[in-house]
Amino acid sequence: MASAMSMNASPVHPPKITTVKALVESTGSSSIPSFYNFTPYLRDEPIAGDAPIAGDAEDSVPIIDISLLVSGTPEEQSQIIHQLSKACSDWGCFMVINHDVTESLTKAMIASFQEFFDLPEEEKKEYQGNHVMDPIRCGTGFNPSMDKANYWRDFLKCFAHPEFHTPNKPAGFSEIAREFSKRNREVVIILLKAISKSLGLEESYVEKAANFELGFQLLAANYYPTCPEPEKAIGIPAHYDHGLLTTLVNNGVSGLQVKHNEKWFNVNIPANVLFVQVADHLEILSNGKYKSIAHRALVNNKATRMSIALAHGPALDTVMRPEPELVDNESDQPAYVEMTYSKFLELQQTGRLRSKFQSDIEQSKAV
Ligand code: OGA
Ligand code: NI
Repeated sequence: MASAMSMNASPVHPPKITTVKALVESTGSSSIPSFYNFTPYLRDEPIAGDAPIAGDAEDSVPIIDISLLVSGTPEEQSQIIHQLSKACSDWGCFMVINHDVTESLTKAMIASFQEFFDLPEEEKKEYQGNHVMDPIRCGTGFNPSMDKANYWRDFLKCFAHPEFHTPNKPAGFSEIAREFSKRNREVVIILLKAISKSLGLEESYVEKAANFELGFQLLAANYYPTCPEPEKAIGIPAHYDHGLLTTLVNNGVSGLQVKHNEKWFNVNIPANVLFVQVADHLEILSNGKYKSIAHRALVNNKATRMSIALAHGPALDTVMRPEPELVDNESDQPAYVEMTYSKFLELQQTGRLRSKFQSDIEQSKAV
């Protein structure tokens, strides 16, 4: 669900392996093939260290207690809406606590994905889709035909809404994935209502604008095997997610970094927390009032990391544009491109989206 912002390594042909997992298990080598060499990425920008989490600290990842949005007093609700507004405009990400995606469901989901990645390579190949619109797609890296260097991760992506598709193995996977996706979606619906209000709109505004009833939801699991040279490789380079919001959990192994105030922060996600990121279509719809957050995944040499990200987007055939009520009178111009969500996805995922900013498109037309 990602598109790279920059890629620096020189092109080297991929080794003949299907997954990074198989590569690691077959070689046991202490170095990585040059095809995975992404070295420059760690030097490009400052790293700030671990992101402090909420509390009262000014500069920490905000925590949103969603139970107060659902059953708090009117004062508590407006306090959380205010916190959400700050979280979306200052950080572009936040941690949701007291939600209904139970820890046991998340654990079961992670275990089930692990079982999937543990299937024999030949069985996984059955799901090796080639097109971004294949409802089940398993693979490695991101888009080998387009990327110069490969990423140190394997993935499985499944459409979860409005149509639901999953592999029919391992046993139980489909039921767990259905419940996990549904509960995450319920959290997102509560958040979208509160976000609408935080933008001064009536609570169903964003859902209506995005035709969220038919909203496209993508369930993606990332598998980052231990890496003998973690400082040379990258799990996923810096990118923005394409939906309205992304919800993300992981298996207790850290690796996610977000960019805040031009610095990279490590994000450690506690087991009972849903990590939520503002994605491109909330930025577009809000005409930049809420900006999507740049993030990336690093790898390590100690433990396999798994993350599960759910992209919650508009309906595929909905034309997305800055909402007229959110376009500033002063600038008087929508700052973002207008197109259907499916077109955006297709262009972004194949590296053909020039920019989401209208000004960039106009500039390149003028040249
Ligand atoms: C993604 C993503 C980050 C992570 O799947 O788009 O950014 O922590 N994943 O795995
Ligand atoms: Ni992402």
